[in-house]
Amino acid sequence: MNATINLENKHFPVLLNELISIISPLYGGTFIDCTFGQGGYSKKILENKENNIIAIDRDKDVLTTASKFEKKYSNRFKFYNIKFSKLNKIKLKNNDLRGIIFDLGYSINQIKNSKRGLSFNNKGKLNMRMGINDFSANDFISSMDENSLSKVFKIFGGERYSKKIAREIVKIRKSKTIKTEDLVQIIDSVKKYQKTKIHNSTKIFQALRILVNKEISELINALINSFHLIPIGGVIAVVTFHSIEDKIVKFFFKHYSEERNSSRYMPNKEESKKCFKLINKKPILPSFKEVNQNPPSRSAKLRYAIKINQECNFNDFMEKFKYLTDVEELR
Ligand SMILES: C[S@@+](CC[C@H](N)C(=O)[O-])C[C@H]1O[C@@H](n2cnc3c(N)ncnc32)[C@H](O)[C@@H]1O
Repeated sequence: MNATINLENKHFPVLLNELISIISPLYGGTFIDCTFGQGGYSKKILENKENNIIAIDRDKDVLTTASKFEKKYSNRFKFYNIKFSKLNKIKLKNNDLRGIIFDLGYSINQIKNSKRGLSFNNKGKLNMRMGINDFSANDFISSMDENSLSKVFKIFGGERYSKKIAREIVKIRKSKTIKTEDLVQIIDSVKKYQKTKIHNSTKIFQALRILVNKEISELINALINSFHLIPIGGVIAVVTFHSIEDKIVKFFFKHYSEERNSSRYMPNKEESKKCFKLINKKPILPSFKEVNQNPPSRSAKLRYAIKINQECNFNDFMEKFKYLTDVEELR
């Protein structure tokens, strides 16, 4: 018999070796895996019997995998079906937290699940909810005013044709409910002469996924809460997949690892201390080998920092990205 391995639904944990080489000097304690997914990161960390994992994921579909982990690793693994912005609600049993890790984005299971409608290759009702959401993409597309739609497409997707696409959506939705395939068609009809390497719908779908899942405020709150939760000497590591996420993570680590004078957001004239030690100023990228084996990894960037101070004021971080969190509140 010809033994073939079906790799179709296999999730390749991105930048796994790179992540492990960063956190392994801290082994012998608890790590929080904020994006459990199919457990690729957690599994690797649990291979070391001195480690414990607290795993988080907003997606209920990962519960089956999580309960297998709970059986296999019993008291070394605990799972929470919550959004990672709420990680400060977790009760830590021991005082041995060493690292908090994020692998942002979507797992292959989520992309392939047509009911979620995360991909422009899906058909049917617009959805894009990852789990624990208030609204779906259908709610936004069917009710948001033209200006707000255009703003979302422009700011979260960087879409040049945001206005025209928003206008067309508002026109078409008067006569029918816009499904995933209709949205793709609307975008194609507006951008028909565009010859670019990326799919016509990529930017609009990215914008909708960010909006539906409130990815910006999720990330900002999670980073701040991570800082407060992790003890001095602990590491926060984040793998991002698009430029907005990376901009946020880069600012968070870089800005707070520099000695700064008081800024206009800190009127008390106190000289602020560094909050992080930054080992690599540049992000760590996947190797050619990894990109060949797993092409979606090509946009991944890994950044990390070590906490070196107990107190940190994140007002200017929140202020810097308010223009993005404001867009998430448009509805
Ligand atoms: C790229 S996958 C993680 C894959 C994982 N590292 C692995 O090796 O299997 C991202 C996961 O993060 C979850 N996720 C994304 N945003 C989240 C949030 N705000 N809160 C909790 N989970 C989130 C998604 O549901 C998804 O399962």
